[in-house]
Parts: sequence; C-alpha cells; structure tokens
Amino acid sequence: MQSLNEIDLSKLEKIGKTGNVYALNDEQILKVFTSEKSNSGKILNDLQGLPFVPKIYEYGEDWLIMQRIKGNILWFHQKGFSWFNVKLNYKEHKKNTLDFIDGSIAKGWMPEGLHQFNVMMGEDGKLYVCDVGRFIKIDGETVSTKNEYQKLLLGYCRGINQAYDTIESRIELLGKEKMLEICTP
Ligand SMILES: Nc1ncnc2c1ncn2[C@@H]1O[C@H](COP(=O)(O)OP(=O)(O)O)[C@@H](O)[C@H]1O
Ligand SMILES: [Mg+2]
Repeated sequence: MQSLNEIDLSKLEKIGKTGNVYALNDEQILKVFTSEKSNSGKILNDLQGLPFVPKIYEYGEDWLIMQRIKGNILWFHQKGFSWFNVKLNYKEHKKNTLDFIDGSIAKGWMPEGLHQFNVMMGEDGKLYVCDVGRFIKIDGETVSTKNEYQKLLLGYCRGINQAYDTIESRIELLGKEKMLEICTP
C-alpha cells in the first residue's frame, strides 16, 4: 500500500476503544494517525525480534499495518476481566522485560508510554506492545545502573512490569462476546 487513499475506511471494522485501529483481516490491523505524522512504523520495524514486539507489515507517515493481536489490553486483565486465562512464568517474564528494555535502547529507542492501555495480553499467553508512539529516539545511551532500570520499570514500562503480579490473581471469565462488546467502540 502506498497511501491511505487506496482504502475506504468506512468499509473496515473498527477495533479497540480508543484511537483509529481497523481490522484488515484475521491477521492484520491498520492503524491510522489522524492528528500528526508518526514514526511508529519505523520504531516497530527497528524493534522486530525483541520480546513483546508485534510484527509490522507495511507503514507510511500516517498509517501502519501490524499483526492483529487476539486478546485484551492489559488494563482489563488488571481489573480482573478477560475471556481467557493466562499463566506467566516469572523467570521468563523478567528476562523478556529486561531483554526488551536493553534491546530497545540498543536499537536507539527509549521505551515510554507503556501503560496498561498500550500493552496487550494475547490468548497465546504472550504480552504485546501495541502502541510505541511515545518511544523516544536516543543516541548512544546505555542503561546499566539499578536506578535507571527502576525508573524504566516503574515508570515508562510499568504496564509490562506490573503484568506479572496482577494478571493471574483474579480474573473473572466473562465470555468472549461480552468482552468484545466492552472492547469495541
Ligand atoms: N495490533 C493490535 N491488535 C489488536 N488490537 C489492537 C492492536 N493495536 C491496537 N489495538 C487496540 O486499539 C486500541 C488503541 O490502540 P493504540 O495503538 O493504543 O492507539 P492510540 O493511538 O489511540 O493510543 C488498543 O487499546 C487496543 O484495544
Ligand atoms: Mg495508545
């Protein structure tokens, strides 16, 4: 796809409560940036291969096509609602979190804005970062001290960091239909 003009958005199914996200098919979503240009496509492209990073297919300045995540935003899990249960492995989750932070920084992007609305939990039990729009371009920085990690884990990456404690504990399975109704505009 070269530009948004090639697509009739009114014919697509809108998903997610906020933003301009449309289902293209079972595997892909189209995200449209209406107010300003975004480098989200490039960021996702740079971060491919790291834990939590969904696949990116194509992107332009005001749109991107990425992997469709079948699941919920983390917020719902943390409020205790879902249509599926997940079991996180603490060791694996911790390793993935650190690999994600180190990897992002090594590739020149400081994670920011990863709150519970921008991270999704998939039915496959994996976490996905669905919105990288607030990541910050950095050059030659390293994160090495405990303090720097704490700042990232408790601040910019808090959605991911808090996932482990809150997810498993108190999920009430509402059924897929009910959850999709709640999640869809
Ligand atoms: N790749 C995706 N697969 C499935 N749903 C998504 C995906 N990306 C976003 N969403 C849904 O759309 C919502 C808004 O997406 P987001 O990228 O955070 O947009 P915004 O720019 O409004 O913050 C998310 O909370 C989620 O429910
Ligand atoms: Mg968002």
